[in-house]
Amino acid sequence: MYFSLLLLHSFFRWMVVFSLLYAIYRGLRGWISKRSFTLADNRVRHITTTIAHVQLALGYVLYFNSPLVAWFRGNYHEAIKQFDYLFFGLLHVILMTIAVIVITIGSSSAKRSVINQDKFRIMTLLFILGLLIIFIAIPWPFSPLANRPYIRTF
Ligand code: HEM
Repeated sequence: MYFSLLLLHSFFRWMVVFSLLYAIYRGLRGWISKRSFTLADNRVRHITTTIAHVQLALGYVLYFNSPLVAWFRGNYHEAIKQFDYLFFGLLHVILMTIAVIVITIGSSSAKRSVINQDKFRIMTLLFILGLLIIFIAIPWPFSPLANRPYIRTF
């Protein structure tokens, strides 16, 4: 269970990153060239937000199945002194949850807006902010915070 979840969560990060990049590209294009917000744009907004929600849910299930987090929770005072445990036990969860809230606010505000330009602007800006937070909180192999591989092969 734990390894399948970790594999899925690790792979799904690419879906999150690429869907956000694509939505931001469409948002910028529509905003700059003053297009109308089409059904396809709305579908991209919706699918991108859903992918972020799925990753959030996977993350929470993983959190309560991870031996690393179990050790963090069971040995809190010792664990917060080791940055890898602090990162996965606390920082990663907090930052990712904030990022998905930002994306959700962007998505629902864009949906509620009636003016095409507002839809594109809100979606673009809040998706960029969400992606930036996600980018910082992903344990890339080059990250100064914590390192995991680009693709899990174990
Ligand atoms: C959009 C949101 C998220 C992204 C893109 C993301 C991405 C990642 C990546 C790339 C890893 C490294 C996987 C590996 O070891 O190969 C990871 C690990 C982890 N994530 Fe997330 N994550 C997200 C949200 C969350 C949330 C919300 C939680 C918890 C509530 C969470 C919990 C964890 C845990 C516990 C690990 C480490 C598990 C372990 O090594 O035992 N993630 N995440």
